[in-house]
Amino acid sequence: MKKQKKLIVGNWKMNPESLDDAKKIARDIKRGVVNIKKTDIVLCPPFVYIPALSGTPKSPMFLGSQDCHSEDRGPFTGEVSITQLYEFGVRFVIVGHSERRKMGESEEVINRKIRAVVIGGMTAIVCIGENERDSHGDYYEVIKSQIHSALKDVPKKMLSSLVIAYEPVWAIGAKEAMSPNELHETSIFIKKVLRDSFGIASDGIRIIYGGAVDRVNADRLIKDGGVSGFLVGRESLKPKDFMEIVKLADSI
Ligand code: PGA
Repeated sequence: MKKQKKLIVGNWKMNPESLDDAKKIARDIKRGVVNIKKTDIVLCPPFVYIPALSGTPKSPMFLGSQDCHSEDRGPFTGEVSITQLYEFGVRFVIVGHSERRKMGESEEVINRKIRAVVIGGMTAIVCIGENERDSHGDYYEVIKSQIHSALKDVPKKMLSSLVIAYEPVWAIGAKEAMSPNELHETSIFIKKVLRDSFGIASDGIRIIYGGAVDRVNADRLIKDGGVSGFLVGRESLKPKDFMEIVKLADSI
């Protein structure tokens, strides 16, 4: 099988405050990618900035969105469809981020969105992760059931259009990321759950980690954690630090 590319996704969330700043961050990141060969970079700005940042989707730089609706058109006030996003060059969509789950997004809605994204010719970055780690290991059940419900009825031939972003909720926005050892154990578990569900075809699904990734901890997390990249929040708004993470991933 062809070696998979690494993947570094910047989730800007509801930042920055102005279009000028958004353009500047994107420009500074683009300047840094000239020698990046083995890593795809996806910037996910707020919807309103997407048209201004849109360009031809071409490795290593891609545009992503932080959410989408599962229907193509219709009476869904405030929503944005996959077809609309596609027109502006978006090729990746983050689905089921814990901040959206907290706002009430259900497993069923997440599943519908994921299916719509892959059928619409884009890659779904499927966020999963436990709220807390208990001493009995119940979090493994949480992770397993999130994977099963998220990927229900996703056609097998579309598995390579999926990325699993494992983001333990307790590490998102925290001071410290999870330890590389814990990440390693968890990424092995996720791969096993995927194998049990989809067989060898699941090897095409990339697993990335998110939660307090920075230019310092990224090194051990990617070398020892068994993941193919990161979903980066705060540090993705700092072009220099973000590009250090990208370069590190590309050097492995
Ligand atoms: P963080 O956010 O890197 O700021 O912890 C990660 C995320 O929510 O995707």
